[in-house]
Amino acid sequence: MSTSAREASRRIPLAMVIIRPAKLFDIPEVMRIEAEAFREAYPRGLFLTFLENNPDTFLVAEYNGRVVGYVMGYLRPDLEGHIMSIAVDKDYRGNGIGSALLKEVIERLIRKGARYIGLEVRVSNLGAIALYERLGFKKVKRIIGYYSDGEDAYYMLLPVEEWRGS
Ligand SMILES: CC(C)(COP(=O)(O)OP(=O)(O)OC[C@H]1O[C@@H](n2cnc3c(N)ncnc32)[C@H](O)[C@@H]1OP(=O)(O)O)[C@@H](O)C(=O)NCCC(=O)NCCS
Repeated sequence: MSTSAREASRRIPLAMVIIRPAKLFDIPEVMRIEAEAFREAYPRGLFLTFLENNPDTFLVAEYNGRVVGYVMGYLRPDLEGHIMSIAVDKDYRGNGIGSALLKEVIERLIRKGARYIGLEVRVSNLGAIALYERLGFKKVKRIIGYYSDGEDAYYMLLPVEEWRGS
């Protein structure tokens, strides 16, 4: 995204953003943010099932009583903590909310026993890739045609022993 697009976001103090587990009543706002952020939106049922199965690693960021971002993480049987989706309301990006959501879900997945944290990201999503790399994720594989529009994904991994909570 261009610098001017980033400057269009509202500047807000991160200290006033609360990161907390998502509740049923947050789902409409989460779905609004998700639909704005991604070309293909998940159906409502997926959010509800995800919340039921992963209530402490489906997190929202709340600012002034409003949901401004979310992250959905889960622990796989192979002990990879997987980030299924993360997005911040476009009006609030660039305030550190995405980083704060990721850090909190990573801590929670590690407490649940994750050895690695993994995710897929579009190869064109340079902003998100920069954010993940800053937190210590490394590109380990390019998955050809991963997305339904044919775009490739990077599979990125963060080994837990390299996580310093930074
Ligand atoms: C990716 C996303 C969640 C980041 O949320 P955010 O709250 O803006 O992230 P932060 O403010 O914590 O940004 C931290 C870092 O991410 C990178 N970054 C985030 N947004 C960026 C952008 N639009 N352009 C360039 N770099 C960006 C930068 O490295 C930034 O560090 P800096 O502010 O010191 O330059 C947000 O841009 C978003 O919702 N994007 C659409 C959905 C999406 O792509 N999700 C990821 C799918 S895998």
